[in-house]
Amino acid sequence: MAGRSQIKKYMSKINNENIEKSISFERELVILGIETSCDETAASVVRGGRTVLSNVIYSQIDLHTLYGGVVPEIASRKHIEKINQVIEQALKEANTKLEDLDAIAVTYGPGLVGALLVGVSAAKAISFASGIPLVGVHHIEGHISANYIENQNLEPPFLCLVVSGGHSHLVLVNDYGKYEILGRTRDDAAGEAYDKVARAIGLGYPGGPKIDKIAKEGNPDAIRFPRARVDNSNFDFSFSGLKSSVLNYLNGMKMKDEPICVPDVAASFQKAVVDVLVDHSMAALKEYKINKFAIAGGVASNSAIREAFTSACKESGVTFYHPSPIYCTDNAAMIAVAGYYDFVNGVRSGLDLNAIANLKLGER
Ligand code: KG4
Ligand code: ZN
Repeated sequence: MAGRSQIKKYMSKINNENIEKSISFERELVILGIETSCDETAASVVRGGRTVLSNVIYSQIDLHTLYGGVVPEIASRKHIEKINQVIEQALKEANTKLEDLDAIAVTYGPGLVGALLVGVSAAKAISFASGIPLVGVHHIEGHISANYIENQNLEPPFLCLVVSGGHSHLVLVNDYGKYEILGRTRDDAAGEAYDKVARAIGLGYPGGPKIDKIAKEGNPDAIRFPRARVDNSNFDFSFSGLKSSVLNYLNGMKMKDEPICVPDVAASFQKAVVDVLVDHSMAALKEYKINKFAIAGGVASNSAIREAFTSACKESGVTFYHPSPIYCTDNAAMIAVAGYYDFVNGVRSGLDLNAIANLKLGER
């Protein structure tokens, strides 16, 4: 399999005219991305790996808010109802027909298996009916690749912190499609901690954006919550102790009949999360001598996280990349981008592609 750097090396052997032709051909590949791993039904058309022609997201958040979290069965049913409509809209907005597509990229894991199956089945059906090649994409690879959309110059190697509702991964991106996981969470994901703490302080679901907002009115140093260290690992995360510590604090205050200052709790909890994320990421950048850092995933929209990394990276002479919020949340443009590099690297999936709930990054 050839990475982009290998492709470049290969192309440097042929004459300039051919280089121009090869590059422009490669850049004009048109990919349809499909994403249904959790509670967003999404489809997108991306040209040349980095130009988004359409990005349609049907969010089910309002539906799940009623239950305080994502209900897998409801998510699957809603995906089935919406998937064709979302794909048609993505093609229409991109002014693209099926015959213009070079490949269909679809998230096949990790995620809710019933939800994933809807996207995978739709992608396989289109591929079977039209003969367009199919590329199965890892959801985290998609989140990482979201950074390529608005940073046309970003190329591996770089370090990426993926923080979402289901994942907290510190990933060394050695090349396109070549990942090394330096750290991961041992228990709750960062977004999960945000959602659980938000529920405990009465903010509702999804908690991340609500904590982000209310924390601006609070004092981040009001309560000292723990910054967890994981034994035998400099880069792994653990957020369940922090969550328990917030719950204990809330119970303690209730027992003493003392009032709870919600903005202070939110700001202090957020500070504990941010400190750990920044600490681990900056240590990894130093140890691996990397000077490019990116964040990705739903939690990467968080304003305190962005601010903290902006200044930490500036101090260390590291270039900091972050997608716009629309590309942080689950979307299909990031899947089409990841699928583009996989496709160029020769990855093809068969019609036996299946949804894999616990798919590991780098596994096929
Ligand atoms: O990437 P994503 O849309 O879905 C997963 O793959 O999990 O991430 C959703 C998570 C939720 O836990 C949500 O609370 C969190 O991202 N989130 C935030 C913010 N916006 C979304 N967390 C902290 N601050 C935010 N501004
Ligand atoms: Zn995600």
